[in-house]
Formats: sequence, C-alpha cells, structure tokens
Amino acid sequence: MVGFMEWLFFIIGIGMIIKVLLNFCHSLTILFAKTDFSEYGYNSWALVTGASDGLGLAISEFLASQGFNIILIGRNQEKLTKVSGQLKEKYPIQIKIIVKDFSVSSANPQTFFLDIKEQTKNLDVSILVNNVGSGAGANCFASLAEERVLWANAINLWPAVFLTKLYLPDMTLRKNRSAVINITSSLALVKLPKCSVYCASKGFMHSFSMIVAEEAKYLSSKNKGRLDVMSVLPSCIDTQMIKMREIKPLLVNPYDCAFWICKSIGSVSYTGGHWKHEYFYLLWTLFGSFSFQLINIFARLLKNKSFY
Ligand SMILES: NC(=O)c1ccc[n+]([C@@H]2O[C@H](COP(=O)([O-])OP(=O)(O)OC[C@H]3O[C@@H](n4cnc5c(N)ncnc54)[C@H](OP(=O)(O)O)[C@@H]3O)[C@@H](O)[C@H]2O)c1
Repeated sequence: MVGFMEWLFFIIGIGMIIKVLLNFCHSLTILFAKTDFSEYGYNSWALVTGASDGLGLAISEFLASQGFNIILIGRNQEKLTKVSGQLKEKYPIQIKIIVKDFSVSSANPQTFFLDIKEQTKNLDVSILVNNVGSGAGANCFASLAEERVLWANAINLWPAVFLTKLYLPDMTLRKNRSAVINITSSLALVKLPKCSVYCASKGFMHSFSMIVAEEAKYLSSKNKGRLDVMSVLPSCIDTQMIKMREIKPLLVNPYDCAFWICKSIGSVSYTGGHWKHEYFYLLWTLFGSFSFQLINIFARLLKNKSFY
C-alpha cells in the first residue's frame, strides 16, 4: 500500500524531473537559435550603451556587421571616435556618437536621458542594448561609501530603466521587429558577499527585464510589429571589468559572447549568452553554488582539451 508520504515524494520527484527537462530544452533552444536581422527594418538603428569597450563594443561590431546603423554611447569621446572610425572602415553603415557619463545620471535622470532621446529623435531605433554596467568595489555593504552606492546604481540601474521607458513606446508602434537586450549577470542569481550592490542591481535588472518581456508579448500581439525583450546573464567575459582570470572554464571572448547573444534575440526571454554560460545557468538552477565545484572538477578532467 502506497502511503501519503510516498505519493508526495513521487510527485515532488516528477516535478523536479520536469523542471530539469524544461531547463535543458531552454539550453537547447539557445544552441539552435537564429535571428533574421532583415526583419528589423532596412536602415534601422541599434543603440548600445557602454559601447566603447568590452561586450558593448563587441555587440556594436556584430550588429554593424549585420547592417544596423549604430548609436554608440559612452563617456570617453576619444575612444568612441576611434570605435566609430573602425566600424565605418569595415561596414557601410552610419554611426552616431553620444557622450554621456551615466554615473552622474542620478542627479536628474529625466533630463539626463531625455537628452539622449532628443539627440536620436529622427532615427528609427529597432534594437536597444542596455549594456553599461560597473561594480561598486569589493567591500562589505556596511563599509561601502554612500557615494559609491549611488555611483554604481546610477550606472547599473537608471540607463536600463529610463532608456527602456523612453524607447519602448516607439518600438511597440514599429511595423518591423524590435528588441531590447538587457545585459545583467549570473550574479543576478549568485549572492556573492562583498558584491551586494552589483548583485542586487543585476537582480533588479533581470526581474525588470523578465516582466517587461512578458508585457512586450502582450503589446506585440496588439500591434503589428514584434517586440522581444531579453535578459542576458553572462558569467565571465574577458574584458577590462573582469579581474579574476583564474575562472578559466567560464571565461569567454566578448566577440563570441556577442555572437551568441545576438543570435538568441527573439528565441528566448533570458539566456546566459554564450553557450558555456547558458549551461552554467542550467547547472546553477540544478545545483546552486555547488555548480562552481562541478565546473572546476570538469575543467580539471579536461585540462588539455579545448574547454579552456
Ligand atoms: N566582464 C564580465 O565578466 C561580465 C560578466 C557578467 C556581466 N557583465 C556585464 O556586461 C556589461 C559590459 O561589461 P564589460 O565587461 O564589457 O565591461 P567593460 O569592458 O568595463 O566596458 C564597460 C563599457 O561601459 C562604459 N562605461 C563604464 N562606466 C561608464 C559610465 N559611467 N558612463 C558611460 N559609460 C561607461 C565603458 O566606457 P570606457 O571605455 O570609458 O571605460 C565601456 O565602454 C556590464 O553590464 C557588466 O555588468 C560583464
């Protein structure tokens, strides 16, 4: 005779197996995802924040290679002009540079971001990439200076929130496809001590992104165009930002990462980005913080293989 407890454990077990299978299917979707960039409209623009370096630069380059005109936003005029020159040399596209230091956006966010919208008012923006982000410094929250908290939140939160607010309404009215890509981090899920402000801001961005993604599905069904919102939760990308290069198994090239991110637009509402990070995400949902140990064991087993 099967008792109540046996049934309960049986149902919980089945539920967990279904969850694992669904997560696995999600990871497979990323592997086979493909985006048709011609659907975004001829001569449309992609706006990328933090475009002068790292992942933002790599995404700008990938989208330029697909024929998008690019609005490069960053704080360093010299670096942006150099990037603009390099992209124009390689691809027959238009580039607009907007110099903005997001760390001062807290003082008056409405005016700060409205100025960006004003500068792009005649451009048909089809893709918004909320990429800019920065850590607040590795310190316990109790010891973190208030200015540092404000500084990091001004870079990590307001650009994504206000730019999405300003560009989303126009995107919902476009006849062609549109997309918002929010670069968050695997630290949206991993609760890392001495990284409270960064982890929490990325957690906020991920939740924000997932909710707007659901709303976008509803708005798209009402209008003719299609709007996709995607949260990207990468682990370690080889850029200026990353200091811990010993996390080799998860370290990926920003250009590879940009390729995987852009090819997933419209297929999923969240992704680890690069396939390695997608599978880390899968491991994390199954094993939590034990995933790090598993990755290290795996990496040691494959020491001389291409996993590095
Ligand atoms: N690297 C990783 O391992 C990793 C992992 C997970 C998530 N992420 C996320 O990925 C995104 C890109 O990171 P990344 O690694 O490419 O960083 P990065 O190499 O440091 O590049 C950051 C970009 O943002 C710009 N930027 C920084 N502060 C700014 C400010 N106050 N105002 C305007 N622009 C500013 C930088 O401009 P300058 O050229 O002037 O410095 C640069 O163009 C971030 O949101 C980050 O949180 C990164």
